Amino acid sequence: MTTPTIELKPSAHPLPAAQREAAMANPGFGRHFTDHMVTIRWTEGRGWHDAQLVPYGPLSLDPSTHVLHYGQEIFEGLKAYRQPDGSVALFRPEANARRFRNSARRMAMAELPEELFLASLDALLSQDAAWVPPHGGEESLYLRPFMFATETGLGVHPANEYLYMLIASPSGAYFAGGVKPVTIWVSEDHVRAVPGGTGDAKTGGNYAASLLPQAEAAAHGCDQVVYLDAVTRTKVEESGSMNIAFVYGDRIVTPALTGSILEGITRDSLLQVARDLGYTAEEGVVTLQQWREDAASGALTEVFACGTAAVVTPIGTVRTKSGEWTHGDGTPGTVTARLREALLSLQRGVTEDAHGWMRRI
Ligand code: PLP
Ligand code: COI
Repeated sequence: MTTPTIELKPSAHPLPAAQREAAMANPGFGRHFTDHMVTIRWTEGRGWHDAQLVPYGPLSLDPSTHVLHYGQEIFEGLKAYRQPDGSVALFRPEANARRFRNSARRMAMAELPEELFLASLDALLSQDAAWVPPHGGEESLYLRPFMFATETGLGVHPANEYLYMLIASPSGAYFAGGVKPVTIWVSEDHVRAVPGGTGDAKTGGNYAASLLPQAEAAAHGCDQVVYLDAVTRTKVEESGSMNIAFVYGDRIVTPALTGSILEGITRDSLLQVARDLGYTAEEGVVTLQQWREDAASGALTEVFACGTAAVVTPIGTVRTKSGEWTHGDGTPGTVTARLREALLSLQRGVTEDAHGWMRRI
């Protein structure tokens, strides 16, 4: 089967420049969408076909469409940054393309070839380049590739048709407070993922399952949830939309990938960036008890969360059913701030791309 090329059908009515600029000046997260989107279909026996870049707009679905009943869906998240020379570059899109295929395999879906994933990003960004916020600020263009089962009927089986789509949204800080430490609720009653489950796939169901604990966190005055492993309920895994890392002076430890943790691209990048800056960065095991004790003894100096949407976010107060503790003084810790700045400088094209992570459009 051959890889289709993307047919361009530009919008006859793009948003006027003034409205686009107003949206980009105060974007929030995922509230505004660019003028276009990519759609590519897959049908059993035919493969990938009808690749198009079309005006952004609603879909029409039969009520029996598989995804609406059985949740066969996957997605990705990555960002495009305006570079100092005005060009646009993506951060490690090949890693997202690979993870998208891994997620598809786990969810028994068709695997989008990596070159088609990358071609969809190039097509949308070339058409909607004006939507990439200016260089130098906190803002970037968040890209959301996703795919779902479009077969109709109520039988439970892997679908014989899928729709891949790509939409884009100018984004600012993921948390309303900007870069100030967030408050964490440790979920002791609910888990995010189980061994052998779908925790390492980026599938909508994982996020649906996180909403009740997230509401519980909000009821306890917290911004985010941190989950423990499902079997022993002692080991820290990750949060609902970010990985987590612990800073012991100049040693950084992030939970080792167990199959129930999402393999974050920011996490992987920060392990490298931290080493480049001279820190020791490793994967390991941190238990909730150790977290509490090491915070009390002062050995644990900072804790941060990381992900595409949240970048690097310091963790301040940690709340559990049996008490709470706080890291730092309400401002980001030194190591957290240094890592955040180093990663953002690279993504914004201010420092050298030593690892070949940036892909120019
Ligand atoms: N963990 C979960 C559950 C996530 O949803 C995300 C966000 O994508 C991450 C971790 C961080 O992954 P990445 O750095 O690739 O965005
Ligand atoms: C991301 O960081 O890209 C995420 O997927 C987080 C979230 C908005 C689900």
